[in-house]
Amino acid sequence: MSDSQVPSQLHPFSRPAARASDFITIVSGEGSTVVDDRGRRYIDALASLWYCNVGHGRAEIADAVAAQSRKLAGFHTFDRFANPPADEVCGRLVGLAPMEGARVFLTSSGSEAVETAMKLARLAHAQAGHPERTLIVSRRPSYHGVTYGAVSATGLPPNQQGWGPLLPDVVQVDRDDLDELDALLEDQGGGERLAAIMAEPVVGAGGVYPPSPGYLEGLRQRCDRHGAFLVLDEVICGFGRLGSWWAAQHYGVRPDLVTFAKAVTSGYQPLGGVLVGPAVRQPLEADPELVLRHGNTYSGHPAACAAALANLAIIEGEGLVRRARSVGERLGKGLAGLVDGKAVLEARGDGAIWALGLAEGVDASAVRDAMLERGVIARPIGTSTVAFCPPLVITDAEVDRCVEVAGDAVRAVS
Ligand SMILES: Cc1ncc(COP(=O)(O)O)c(C=O)c1O
Repeated sequence: MSDSQVPSQLHPFSRPAARASDFITIVSGEGSTVVDDRGRRYIDALASLWYCNVGHGRAEIADAVAAQSRKLAGFHTFDRFANPPADEVCGRLVGLAPMEGARVFLTSSGSEAVETAMKLARLAHAQAGHPERTLIVSRRPSYHGVTYGAVSATGLPPNQQGWGPLLPDVVQVDRDDLDELDALLEDQGGGERLAAIMAEPVVGAGGVYPPSPGYLEGLRQRCDRHGAFLVLDEVICGFGRLGSWWAAQHYGVRPDLVTFAKAVTSGYQPLGGVLVGPAVRQPLEADPELVLRHGNTYSGHPAACAAALANLAIIEGEGLVRRARSVGERLGKGLAGLVDGKAVLEARGDGAIWALGLAEGVDASAVRDAMLERGVIARPIGTSTVAFCPPLVITDAEVDRCVEVAGDAVRAVS
């Protein structure tokens, strides 16, 4: 294939017309560093796509996947089947969960996890005698994935355009605006049709926005008041990113459903899922004849679950949840030092997820490109945000290098 041709892969979130030469081919990784096919090294300041918390090249996880694959590479968990890694990882997750008495539904991605949470919320209400409760409120901006349910909940209008009709009864309100939420619920029959409110504790791919103090508790109160479920989408925040296992613990709010993916395996295998709390479980378990007609072929895939177990052991054994706090402090302070009120307007974030907010005329993609030339991979969001979410094993020197390169890149393009 010549460089002037389009590549065989139709790349996600990319221009279909892009040429093969536009892509950077990553061939290996170790710790916080990845290497391309020309031998250039980059600090991975976004943990790939917000997921590689334990860093690249962890032989323990590769070995666990290989050992499981030799024993039982795959067998489904529909109907009457189970397997030991799936059982074990669900047990581990129940023990870690930010609510008492959870069970776990496994998927292969974050979008499927979100889809599952939306469906379970509606089903649980229907089983409890309230089939009218179908309204799901999420926020803008937010990112919940790409399947029809998940994109219907995603508060990024460009992501929602061009796909035809989205899922009915899924609406967005501005993040941090409890008044707009109350007005919407008033409009929608006083909250009597509300099934669930869904929120990322820290908005991630929608721009990196931590919640204002008291906001998540405000969502919990609305759910309690209206008899609805609180869904926290912890696909990015879970597994230590904010310095606690879950953002729910970090912010002290009790969810009914928690979606997770990404760092549950640090990306060594595709895995996601939903922690299902008692308020959702009970109506589903109350009818002994109910069959849950939902699941993915790879729900509970044994090799993916083996990867999760090895990954969780590393997070715990190496104290990476605590480490997130010092990574975040250093990164946050460093980025704050770049704020000059001219090219860089703000540094925002929490734990080990941060972003630079750029002034008009300083293009985030141009900053990203200038950072790439200097050996650091960050992620532009829209035109004015550059996001950082490094592996939690990143060294202090590497954090400092990311900040230095970000500063150089901003100066180079502004
Ligand atoms: C908060 C959140 N939810 C859901 C998703 C969708 O996950 P996936 O891309 O694995 O489908 C993402 C992906 O970035 C995410 O950040």
